[in-house]
Amino acid sequence: MMDAKIERALNKQINMEYSASYIYLGMALYMDTEHLPGFASWMVSQSDEERTHARRLLRYMLDRNGDVGLESIPKPKVEYDSVKAVFEASLEQEKNNTQSINDLYSLASELNDYATQAHLQWFLDEQVEEEKSIIDILGRLELAGNDQTALLI
Ligand code: FEO
Repeated sequence: MMDAKIERALNKQINMEYSASYIYLGMALYMDTEHLPGFASWMVSQSDEERTHARRLLRYMLDRNGDVGLESIPKPKVEYDSVKAVFEASLEQEKNNTQSINDLYSLASELNDYATQAHLQWFLDEQVEEEKSIIDILGRLELAGNDQTALLI
């Protein structure tokens, strides 16, 4: 039996992952309208990945006979001021997600829910990866500055 508090927190996390997927899709749309297909496809991959994160959590809940509750996801933003603003927003989103995974991990520790802690380990590593790849891109955008050619490359 899963603790109801963990169930609630996992359901909230599943919703966050699906919402993140939709937000990345909105970012992909923006990149497409800016004629930047490379960035658009990067955003689509992120969007796909977020859904695999949600499914991973969902599968885990089902394996533990947890009570899965799917909630609605908000309408994503599709307009941004610049490419850099998109990546800044995505870094912000990933930081919030990392915080949420950390909180979930703390709750699992408090409740001596070792299986959930073990399951979340993968997510902790994944968040480090995701934040790093966005920070790398932001660094390159900084180097490119206002050079349109560099941006295209
Ligand atoms: Fe599901 Fe971008 O972390």
